[in-house]
Amino acid sequence: MNKAFDIGVESLGGNGGTGNSGLDANSSGLSGGGIHSRKFNATGKLDFTGGVVPADVAAAAKSFGDTESGGTFFLETFGCQMNDHDSEKVAGLLLSRGYRQVETPEAARMILYNTCSIREKAAQKVFSRLGEYRERGADKIIGVLGCVAQQEGQDIFRRAPWVSLVCGSASYRKLPEMLAELEAGNKRVTGLDNDTDETFETEITRRDNPWRAYLTIIEGCDKACAYCVVPHTRGPERSRGSESVLREVRQLAELGYSEVQLLGQTVNSYVDPTARHMTFSDLLLEVAQVAGIRRVRFTTSHPRDFGADIVEAIDREPKLCDHIHLPVQSGSTKVLRAMARTYTREEYLEKMALIRGAKRPISITTDIIVGFPGETDEDFAETLSMLDEAQYDGVFGFKYSPRPNTPSLALNDPIPDEVKGQRLAMIQEKQRVIQTARNLAMLGQELDVFVSNKSRRENQWSGHTSSNRVISFSSQERELLGSYVRVKVTDSGTGSLTGVHVLEVEG
Ligand code: 5AD
Ligand code: SF4
Repeated sequence: MNKAFDIGVESLGGNGGTGNSGLDANSSGLSGGGIHSRKFNATGKLDFTGGVVPADVAAAAKSFGDTESGGTFFLETFGCQMNDHDSEKVAGLLLSRGYRQVETPEAARMILYNTCSIREKAAQKVFSRLGEYRERGADKIIGVLGCVAQQEGQDIFRRAPWVSLVCGSASYRKLPEMLAELEAGNKRVTGLDNDTDETFETEITRRDNPWRAYLTIIEGCDKACAYCVVPHTRGPERSRGSESVLREVRQLAELGYSEVQLLGQTVNSYVDPTARHMTFSDLLLEVAQVAGIRRVRFTTSHPRDFGADIVEAIDREPKLCDHIHLPVQSGSTKVLRAMARTYTREEYLEKMALIRGAKRPISITTDIIVGFPGETDEDFAETLSMLDEAQYDGVFGFKYSPRPNTPSLALNDPIPDEVKGQRLAMIQEKQRVIQTARNLAMLGQELDVFVSNKSRRENQWSGHTSSNRVISFSSQERELLGSYVRVKVTDSGTGSLTGVHVLEVEG
């Protein structure tokens, strides 16, 4: 439903093929169906975020790279943007140890899956991938990383004995040691400790997106929403020091990135652990000051920690993009309470009012779960009316999926899948109408577009607006990739905006 709006945060189809994704043309994800996974694409940038290549690079390359097909790895990523970016860091780490990344599992000595367990379908997908190696896994090193690794732990070895590495995201700092163990022939290597106060920073990050650089500023989550595995799989909240974040942004700018996206499960719960004690909005403003940076994005915001200071920062600084992803999950206070979301419908609407009161229009997108245990028709009607009231620019809808280690597991899953499917379809239909009208209202507007794609069709380009909408447009210019241009909207649909290049943006 949401094609024109690139949320840039969550790229999974809903459970049962009914989710909607805001994927744009640059993304390889699937929408309206299974889980979205990304494999290595050979065009990424290598960033030396720490400045120096570790001294053991050559030695590692030699020790593992010398074996016949050894030293090669294939990495497939499932799930959210945090996972995508973790994979970029894991790939950087492997490259710095002399491994070479290949595009197919067949060509690889080591196969790694960075996994997602947010909904059951996503987790199942990993086991079906692993099943492919039942017969022929012996000559490969197979590793499971990320949320399924953390959730299933040692049990993965029982279900798939050909796996030799199981490592959750909170243990990625220890990957070099784990790799050394694998290289030494150890067949049962684990990193499952998630009670950590450490973040994962790498000296080299292999970035897949040449236009938008992601950087994690806060890992884990302390919010304990009743349905969510993340606090269990990613551990407690821990923020990176502001100076380390700013150093990475400066390095990204030097590498030529003009757009950065700050990541966190609850990005606005950021607490600077250093003596500077910067607030999240201070950090946004400082990131925007870095020479060469023209756009700053951030996802995902938690309504509880969303304050007026963030809107004031956006008012003050045009480089802070006009888009906020603010998951509501349900429009019913009763359901929100059962979900332990820590806000009522009214309190959420107060946060929205802050955003709507900004000096420039800010797009708002959201996540909704339908069929949470106990959600009645009346509760669901409140979610539908929330869509009318909020007038979102994009909605990611999901059917409730009971997950291990979550408080709501004990509530069972009383709402039939059929009812969840009907509710999700109603959300999508309502949002389709809202979005069509909102896109129509954009006709004639002139928008600044960061051009990131050249179409196969002559003179056709596409890129993102500050509000994160994808727009296709025509231009007579010969080369526009990576530039900022002004585009006038000439046509619109539910999931698309079309325009024409009018003039270069100063800058
Ligand atoms: N079932 C369905 N959707 C879920 N989400 C998180 N946990 C579940 C679950 N158990 C959704 C929430 C969250 C988004 C990333 O995924 O809407 O915001
Ligand atoms: Fe999960 Fe809630 Fe944390 Fe988001 S805020 S990651 S939904 S527990």
